[in-house]
Amino acid sequence: MKLKKIQEINLENKKILLRADFNVMTQNREFKEEYKIKSVRETIKHILKYPGTRLVLVSHLGRVDKKNFSGEQEVHHRFSFRPLLGDLERILGVKLKFIPSADANVIKKELEKFSAGQVALLENIRFYEEEEKNDREFSRALASNFDIFVNEAFSVCHRRHASVVAVTEFLPGYAGFHLQKEVEILRKIKENPSSPAVAIIGGAKIETKLSLIREFEKNYDFVLVGGKISAEALRQKIKFGSRVILPLDFRGYFLDIGEKTISEFKEKIAQAKTIVWNGPLGKFEVSPFDQGTRKILHAITQNRKAFSVAGGGESVQILEEEKIMDKISFVSTGGGAMLCFLSGGAMPGLEAISV
Ligand code: 3PG
Repeated sequence: MKLKKIQEINLENKKILLRADFNVMTQNREFKEEYKIKSVRETIKHILKYPGTRLVLVSHLGRVDKKNFSGEQEVHHRFSFRPLLGDLERILGVKLKFIPSADANVIKKELEKFSAGQVALLENIRFYEEEEKNDREFSRALASNFDIFVNEAFSVCHRRHASVVAVTEFLPGYAGFHLQKEVEILRKIKENPSSPAVAIIGGAKIETKLSLIREFEKNYDFVLVGGKISAEALRQKIKFGSRVILPLDFRGYFLDIGEKTISEFKEKIAQAKTIVWNGPLGKFEVSPFDQGTRKILHAITQNRKAFSVAGGGESVQILEEEKIMDKISFVSTGGGAMLCFLSGGAMPGLEAISV
């Protein structure tokens, strides 16, 4: 599988639909974390270098299950991109026009008014239930106003959704720069990591992490497991091979890894040439049970010879809080998508833009 790349085509005078992922927690009309949004900037800049381009960004925000809300008004109030437009403009560094509907006629009219080089953002694509159904007719209509589709949302490539997969039946699809980098790096650390290779896996849901631990067990020297999943693995007496190291001790009734475990994990991390980290090693949001995660994180950043990769929503948040994003060699934008990719699961969004 080889990705088709955005740099391989001439974008002059093209109308481009760009799938981004601006699905980030928000507060008071602002995004709480910027990494995923910033990852789209290089691709936008590249597109706007070509004369005559017209660019429309499309993304989802939240899990819009209408059954859980009192009506359309509440759904719009909670998940519309409209109030976030100013903050998105600030983070992306471009002026944005808002298109309130994904209806083909509305988009057509808006595009007619566009000046060349202009950028717009469509309303939350998950307001349409056809999106999650990967509906062909919906995708056909969405695609009808464009010449080219660009995917710059690695983090939704595990989803078989209309603006990720079905849209590529009607438009030639290409990978944006960050998505290309994600795939290249994650593939390298999955298939061909420099040894000694150490994976550190934490988090809360054992069912989402078990296949990841099993996958790393195949070709990593050590798989260090912490967080609620390690307590659960012990409770369920799940059997692993000798490369998987579960905590030797805990603090606060399994709320954090203990000092003996921290020393053992630090020793393995210090020798590593490849380090992958996914998920907190304790109940990070409650002090002092954040200590295990913080100490392990600092051990990762102190190993300057290793190639380090981190990913997952909480992991990115912790790195931003600790202001050590730049001390990790690569931070993935994918939460579920990174887990899926590294566990060998299906990535229909990548297949859709590959030859
Ligand atoms: C993410 O935040 O991991 C992506 O935006 C995917 O979101 P989803 O799990 O709601 O599909």
